[in-house]
Amino acid sequence: MTMAIDWTLARALLEWQLELGVTDAVLAEPVDRFVQPAAALDEAPMPPAMTAPGAVSFAAPDAGAPLAPAVHVAAPEIDAVALATQAAQRARSLPDLAEALADFAPCELRRGARNCVFSDGNPNAQVMIVGEGPGAEEDKLGKPFVGRAGQLLDQMFGAIGLTRSSPDPAASVYITNTVPWRPPGNREPTPEELAMLRPFLLRHIELAAPRVLVLVGNVACDALLGRRGILRLRGHWTQAGDLPAMPMTHPAYLLRNPAAKREAWADLLSIKARLASGL
Ligand code: URA
Repeated sequence: MTMAIDWTLARALLEWQLELGVTDAVLAEPVDRFVQPAAALDEAPMPPAMTAPGAVSFAAPDAGAPLAPAVHVAAPEIDAVALATQAAQRARSLPDLAEALADFAPCELRRGARNCVFSDGNPNAQVMIVGEGPGAEEDKLGKPFVGRAGQLLDQMFGAIGLTRSSPDPAASVYITNTVPWRPPGNREPTPEELAMLRPFLLRHIELAAPRVLVLVGNVACDALLGRRGILRLRGHWTQAGDLPAMPMTHPAYLLRNPAAKREAWADLLSIKARLASGL
């Protein structure tokens, strides 16, 4: 037999259970009612004790539909951005930071990747390039921009006299990405992933201390300028924190749209002119 009860009786019964020492209401499987769509709540399994013959049922005050008692047992929340900020700020050097990033467990991307792709090039370079995230080749080799897009990137910067391998800060580039782990299926990093890993990126820039930043593609602009719309942003010097930054189209875009190389060349010349001007 089941008995419909109103909310005052339901509350009194819960208070009585609390007095008896009940501290948690659990099902066989955890149910996070904050993420369930409203419709699913009506279908949530009731604990056996609630559906057994003779048990009381809890009627919703207005709808009359049966509902399991909505007791939310809070999962311990971690503030991944705060953890990332602490870990990044503790790093006193680039190798420290690379180690802290490789050990940063809260980011799910880490589990699906083979390598933590930290950086490549000359850490003392005047120009620091920030890309999106590793692809398949980068994940395999543990270095940023080593696939087709990376080869084009090297050619582009080589054309203004900057290479990854030069020991001269004025003739080299230093390269990293917004996220160090390959997102599954080469998707873009989510806003949550970008926010979580941004403290590492900011510390990376702080420790490398380049003269200028080059932000290639929308995701790098999103992470460091909080803006997208690369076709409008490109070619215009802007400020990322206290550094001058040049947004450019991503080399993967240029591979698909060779006509856009003309504008990319203009952007490269602007970078070269800025470096020569000593600004
Ligand atoms: N694209 C990027 O944005 N970064 C890489 O490292 C490789 C491809």
